[in-house]
Amino acid sequence: MDLIPAPSSSSFPVAEGLLLGPRTTLGGAPGCAAAVRWLRAVLGAATGLPLEPAASPDIELSLDAALGPEEYRITVADGRARLTAGGPGGAGWAAQTLRQLLGPDAYRRAPLRRGGWSLPACEIADAPRFGWRGVLLDVSRHFLPKADLLRYVDLLAAHKLNVLHLHLTDDQGWRFEVRRFPKLTGTGAWRERSMVGFRDADRRDDRPHGGFYTQDDLRELVAYAAERGITVVPEIDLPGHVQAAVAAYPELGNTDVVDTAALGVWSDWGVSPNVLNVSDATLAFLEGVLEELLDVFPSEFVHLGGDECPKEQWRASPAAQARIREQGLADEDELQSWFIRHFDRWLAARGRRLIGWDEIMEGQREALPQKGGGGRREGGLAPGAAVSSWRGYAGGVAAARAGHDVVMCPEQHVYLDHRQADGEDEPIPVGYVRSLEDVYRFEPVPPSLDPVSARHVIGTQANLWSEFADDARDLDFRAFPRLVAFAEVAWSALPTEPAARDWPGFERRMRTHYARLDALGVEYRPPGGPHSWQRRPGVLGRPLAGPPPAV
Ligand code: ACM
Repeated sequence: MDLIPAPSSSSFPVAEGLLLGPRTTLGGAPGCAAAVRWLRAVLGAATGLPLEPAASPDIELSLDAALGPEEYRITVADGRARLTAGGPGGAGWAAQTLRQLLGPDAYRRAPLRRGGWSLPACEIADAPRFGWRGVLLDVSRHFLPKADLLRYVDLLAAHKLNVLHLHLTDDQGWRFEVRRFPKLTGTGAWRERSMVGFRDADRRDDRPHGGFYTQDDLRELVAYAAERGITVVPEIDLPGHVQAAVAAYPELGNTDVVDTAALGVWSDWGVSPNVLNVSDATLAFLEGVLEELLDVFPSEFVHLGGDECPKEQWRASPAAQARIREQGLADEDELQSWFIRHFDRWLAARGRRLIGWDEIMEGQREALPQKGGGGRREGGLAPGAAVSSWRGYAGGVAAARAGHDVVMCPEQHVYLDHRQADGEDEPIPVGYVRSLEDVYRFEPVPPSLDPVSARHVIGTQANLWSEFADDARDLDFRAFPRLVAFAEVAWSALPTEPAARDWPGFERRMRTHYARLDALGVEYRPPGGPHSWQRRPGVLGRPLAGPPPAV
């Protein structure tokens, strides 16, 4: 049946399955209500069948406490389908697998034909390898309208991905409505123009770009995602990548170094030198922002960025230097750690956990747990803080060894803005070639990690930066089909040795999966190369030669 991601085990005996018809019934235990609702809506649309409830339904979902929360079993035999799961999450994944069993047309929103729907006799047992199977969407560099964002939630769920990391703020746009600071979106959510292609071309379009989500839009998103087994983890990037916020509230910037009142929302790509100042007023401002963020996003983890913070302004700023002296810090790196630690503790006091890019480990006077007591030296991150390891594996390895949870998302492997093939036709080619096969062979847990530290790798994530993907169609092109391979890496029990993975088998199953993506309307990169309308002739990229450096 070409299931993707591959289940732990499956068998398809030659026996009677289940023919679906107008009298087929569907229902389940209360813990499966979301999965039943979703199945009735999605399969009802695709098949035109009512799939009415019944006391003893033909398609029945139930919970079994012996299974893990995302684990499930499916048995189709003798005219009935039984879906059993450890929790609501597993019930949702079972429902997704059931849709795959019905064939690509089950992914359409209205029937092409009446009748002829059948589930094959089968026994499936399945559970994920990782609890964090994430995708970052960068809605700052290019805003993704709410309808497109909701569509991406459906696409993630179809691939059993369960974390949507939403990069809500950056130099080029602030997308989160903050009621007490309306200029964050009033000023910060749009820019006058955008850079087109890589910065060396120094080329811009001449149209404003912008958009933001209201808090109610985001509450809707969170609920829509939760109904599909997905947690939305918001990111407010601090203390760098903040020019949009400084453009809205110039007092947040280093006013003793630059005329921040003259700054606009950045219309270049890259890393802006304009970072936050480190005053008490700025900390209080951000706490106000985060109070509203926590009210909208119930996720355990809150991402506070921490990446790529240029230190020039802090070096030049008397106020920043005074803070360094006041706190007894060694340098600007430790100032950044102090800043991050403030919010780490602030989140921990509210029952949340900080997650940040691997730079948050820099300048933390943190070491391995101390001998004879396991205590931590003063100055480290809270034990619950976690790291998104993006500059390769090394930051994640160090964090895991220090006892922090880690999400592996090394840019050399799973930055899906990077080009998919070597060739003139790739639109705005950036980075190294990361083909579908490369992503299929990505291993999130490096062999250098000892088994105890390896348990801190709670998952993996593909990051979709959007400088060069200026709408949902471009995003589809960069995301697909590679996100499909990534989903299998994150979910399935593949051999950990990349060379041992069954790439030909995956490629074979992809033939069916392309038909599913077609039915969903996903504008993926065809295996033979981009469609002519997917090219961007003449727009400069920045392709890097050779294989990515070993990490
Ligand atoms: C990053 O790519 N700067 C996290």
